[in-house]
Amino acid sequence: ADIPVICIDGPSASGKGTLAARVAERLGFATLDSGALYRIAGWAAQHHGLDISTANATALAQLARTLPVAFVQDRVFYDGEDITLAIRSSEGSRNASLISAIGPVREALLSFQRDSARLPGLVADGRDMGTVVFPQAVLKVFLTASAEKRAERRYKQLISQGLAANITTLREELETRDARDASRSVAPLRPADDALMLDNSDMDIDTATLQVLSWWAQKH
Ligand code: C5P
Repeated sequence: ADIPVICIDGPSASGKGTLAARVAERLGFATLDSGALYRIAGWAAQHHGLDISTANATALAQLARTLPVAFVQDRVFYDGEDITLAIRSSEGSRNASLISAIGPVREALLSFQRDSARLPGLVADGRDMGTVVFPQAVLKVFLTASAEKRAERRYKQLISQGLAANITTLREELETRDARDASRSVAPLRPADDALMLDNSDMDIDTATLQVLSWWAQKH
């Protein structure tokens, strides 16, 4: 219960993953990419031919509880199959957002997320790290950036991975996904009451990292 946790929540492509990795590296902490879990669960549902709808909530939750997944360095394997790129595609993002709105699926992924906290500490990024998964966290950051900047960053990320992308489509997809994530009834995207707001639209990653480290030093 005394394991230090830093939560970084915010909308799609706001830079949470990169920031979490930098902060964790500086502090020697582990990271939790909670979005990856919903991406993997969404991929698994499609793989098993299960419609992502509340009608299948029980089966989807059962699937999420028993994902045969392995994280090897920066790659993700499902039952031995490398799904690293597949879960980052537009379809993967959409499936993640759809499955993440199903309450029993969120329940099923809760203990895995909480169990990933270990000494000397954890940096967790997602939508509900500060509100639901780690409400007792020492530091909660809500990271935002303009839709334009977020679309631009996601575009560069996909291109650098050798994936096809269109910036206008990406922006529309981000906005659709954020609207769904923010309006769902379970664990909607919103800042925790005690979250510190960080808009990194016009901030480079080093500046954002230093800001979080300085907040951490003040809280700690
Ligand atoms: O962070 P990322 O874009 O990889 O997350 C993919 C999707 O997973 C989000 O759009 C959201 O619907 C869902 N998600 C969530 N709760 C989290 C992390 C991600 O609902 N903690």
